[in-house]
Amino acid sequence: MSKNIILIGFMGVGKGTIARELAKQSKRFAIDTDDLIESFENKKIKDIFEELGEEYFRNLENKTAKWLEKSVENSIISTGGGFYKVENIHKIGKIIYLESSFDKIMERILTHRSAEKKLAKRPLLKDIKKAKELFGKRVKEYKKYSNITINVENRTPQDLAKEILKHF
Ligand code: S3P
Repeated sequence: MSKNIILIGFMGVGKGTIARELAKQSKRFAIDTDDLIESFENKKIKDIFEELGEEYFRNLENKTAKWLEKSVENSIISTGGGFYKVENIHKIGKIIYLESSFDKIMERILTHRSAEKKLAKRPLLKDIKKAKELFGKRVKEYKKYSNITINVENRTPQDLAKEILKHF
C-alpha cells in the first residue's frame, strides 16, 4: 500500500507551503502535481490553459495521477485545486483536505509579497466572482473526497504539519 499523503483544497490555500513543511518534519520528499505537469509539457500551467485548453490540462492531471499511483510512495503530494477529481485519487494515498473560507484564501493571496504573480499564474482566479462560485461547488466535494479535513485558518504551516503527522 502507498503511504503517500495527498493535500487537496482550493487555489491559494497553502497546499505547497504545508507540503514542504510536512516533508521537512517527516523527512520525506514533497512533490507538486502542477510542477510535474509543467515539466512534462515544458509549459507553464497558464500557457497550457491558454494554448491547449482546460480539458487538455485535466487529461494531463489524470496522466499524472496514474504515474503517481504506479511510481511514488512514502511522499508528500500537493495538488492543483481540481486534481481531486482524477479517477484513482484514493489509490495514490491518504487525502487531507485543507479547509479555509474563500475570504481568508483571498486575503492570504492578496497580502503575499508576490500577490500579482500568484494571481497571474492561476487562470481560474482571473474572475473573482467566478472563482467564488467555483469555490462554492468545490467545498462539498473536497470534504467528500478526503479522509481527513483540517481547517488552516490562522495557523502556521509548522503547527498544521505537526497535526497532520499525528494521523500517520
Ligand atoms: C486549478 C488550480 C491550480 C492549477 C490550475 C487549475 C483548479 O493549482 O492546477 O490552475 O482547478 O483549481 P493551485 O490550486 O495550486 O492554484
